[in-house]
Amino acid sequence: MFEILSKENLAQSVTKFVVHAPYVARKHKAGNFVIIRVNDHGERIPLTICDSDAEAGTITIIAQTIGKTTKLLSLQNAGDSLLDVAGPLGNPTPIHNFGTVVCIGGGVGTAEVFPIATALKNAGNKLVTIVGARTKDLVILEKELRGISDEYFITTDDGSYGMKGLVTNALDNYLKKDPNVKGVYAIGPIIMMKAVSDFTKPLGISTYVSLNPIMMDGTGMCGACRVSVGGETKFACVDGPEFDGHKVDFEELMTRNRSYMDLEKASFDRFNEELEGHSCGSVAKEAANA
Ligand SMILES: Cc1cc2nc3c(=O)[nH]c(=O)nc-3n(C[C@H](O)[C@H](O)[C@H](O)COP(=O)(O)OP(=O)(O)OC[C@H]3O[C@@H](n4cnc5c(N)ncnc54)[C@H](O)[C@@H]3O)c2cc1C
Ligand code: FES
Repeated sequence: MFEILSKENLAQSVTKFVVHAPYVARKHKAGNFVIIRVNDHGERIPLTICDSDAEAGTITIIAQTIGKTTKLLSLQNAGDSLLDVAGPLGNPTPIHNFGTVVCIGGGVGTAEVFPIATALKNAGNKLVTIVGARTKDLVILEKELRGISDEYFITTDDGSYGMKGLVTNALDNYLKKDPNVKGVYAIGPIIMMKAVSDFTKPLGISTYVSLNPIMMDGTGMCGACRVSVGGETKFACVDGPEFDGHKVDFEELMTRNRSYMDLEKASFDRFNEELEGHSCGSVAKEAANA
């Protein structure tokens, strides 16, 4: 069992957990993820290791509640334990000294880009960070990312904070000022990673994206996370999760990720109904864990 040592709500539906997982913490490198199971009825879901402390034996995970398992996770509190935390999985992110590098985080992808941005900064890069969110209340890790970035920009879809527009608008603006950017890392919704890759391709700027296909075992055995990159089949869990954004078949990834949408929605609705059936919070949590 892996004890949750602390829990913090970062934004609406986005929760940060510090979890005691000493073996994972000891081996973690930027870009790695874990596969967790909240309890023995729970599904396995992959989550990026956003930070770790080898001495304290802890890892930090940040999850956005979008379905049954992430909701179940969000109901856990400090003092509760996760049944499984398997990892670190996936390849560490390739970290180069580009001179100037731009890290782009969209939504909860901002949490995933944080360890990579830190590693790139530590490798001697000038770090430019662009964070995109739908609205001001959904911007996360601003203090942390501002703290390590040489330049930091926010875009919101509704203009409630930072620049009104998309991360690609901010990237375009920055490149007009400083065309010497040689590397871009983009993590967020698939459509955002596609837009960034389409934008940088004609400019010849190396672009890494972190793919989020459905994963089951996370060790290359089941094939669930199959993606096409440069016309070749890759398994995101063992060959990625980062890939050259200019070679990824994003359309296929979007289609595959929608495969179980109806079932996922039905399962989430059922779960919420069960929770609503229990008015008292602690009873609801017991029901969730049952
Ligand atoms: C390598 C990797 C790292 C990730 N890191 C983070 C992170 O740090 N924070 C975060 O909030 N999310 C992260 N995700 C996405 C997260 O795993 C999904 O949001 C989660 O699995 C949804 O499960 P659910 O039961 O709550 O939702 P569901 O309703 O079951 O599914 C909603 C959507 O989530 C995706 N999804 C569902 N099951 C899985 C699965 N087993 N594997 C992958 N995707 C799935 C699908 O696109 C699906 O349509 C990551 C995904 C991958 C592949
Ligand atoms: S998750 Fe099974 S092969 Fe990648």
